[in-house]
Amino acid sequence: MKKNISLKSYNSFGVDVISKELYEVYSEDEVLKTLNSLKDRKVFILGGGSNILFTNNVQTPVINVKIKGIKIISENNNHVSVSIGAGEIWDDFVKWAISKNLGGVENLISIPGYVGGAPIQNIGAYGVEIKNVFLSCSGYFIDTLEKKEFKINDCQFSYRSSIFKKSLKNKFIITEVVLQLSKNNHKINKSYKSLNDVIKSKKVKDPTIKDIAEIVSNIRKDKLPDPSIIGNSGSFFKNPIVSQDTLTKLKERFKELVFYKENEVKYKLSAAWLIENCGFKNIKEKNVSVYKNQALVITNLGNATGKEIYSFSQKIKSKVLEKFDILLEEEVNII
Ligand code: EPU
Repeated sequence: MKKNISLKSYNSFGVDVISKELYEVYSEDEVLKTLNSLKDRKVFILGGGSNILFTNNVQTPVINVKIKGIKIISENNNHVSVSIGAGEIWDDFVKWAISKNLGGVENLISIPGYVGGAPIQNIGAYGVEIKNVFLSCSGYFIDTLEKKEFKINDCQFSYRSSIFKKSLKNKFIITEVVLQLSKNNHKINKSYKSLNDVIKSKKVKDPTIKDIAEIVSNIRKDKLPDPSIIGNSGSFFKNPIVSQDTLTKLKERFKELVFYKENEVKYKLSAAWLIENCGFKNIKEKNVSVYKNQALVITNLGNATGKEIYSFSQKIKSKVLEKFDILLEEEVNII
């Protein structure tokens, strides 16, 4: 346990707040011992800190899950099931899968954060979400220390959300995630427009797992700032989901509006487009800026405080509401 320690290197925004008590746990046993020692106290579970904005010092004990390990636990002709410790770096796992030519997570390359955080917000990029390869995850209820395995159908996965972000928010600590990857006959997903555009322009005939990983990784490098250089948390807001009626009205007023069909009755708007069209792209305020290549990303230019970042984000939100009558919802967890 570390006392009064800065969390600057524990969050990808690079915000300097103090944690009163920080516990780094490396095994399930340590998780149980730590939870036992903190019995009846509220705790805050921290993974890779890549989807969090700290706006204050953290008084509640912070548990940083560092459980490592990647192992194949079962295998048949076409698939493998892989168990991954919640404290593995997500991208290390993706690179492990690619090096073994196992398919399913290549579109999810270069996403910052730990494996344990991935199901919480059902991470997604370039046409794939973790739910597409998810088998189960296990861990402990914080108040009772009861162990539970959640199968895919228990997780209530939806766009950037799951049961762990809703009814189980701050109530369950994930220690292990099990994913299913393809060994043979892997179906490459090239449905996402910007990915497909590159495949076509480069004339890649039958893209392999490695090709997709390389292309996605390059697209991300162009659009998203590297959090180890410029503090950020990826998309700050979710892409809003609206009805056909709302879409029709918006399209009448804004001919260039960017949107996608979400399902039979709902449409997803590009939040980046809304923000850019409120004039925020590459705009700076104090130590905060909207990224020049992706208006959905807010960056810490140096020593921004969480409050400064939050206050700028709320200005963006108000302007989008005023101009488009759309209320953006934060993707980042504000603490
Ligand atoms: N666009 C703009 N202005 C911009 C950026 C984008 O108008 O500054 C428009 C363009 O028309 C572009 C479209 O928005 O074609 C889509 O942009 P992009 O492909 O960058 O995707 P996004 O919808 O902005 C989402 C995810 C990202 C994920 C990408 C790729 C959310 C909230 N964000 O962004 O996820 O990497 O798709 O799949 O769903 C994250 O969750 O932190 C994240 C980075």
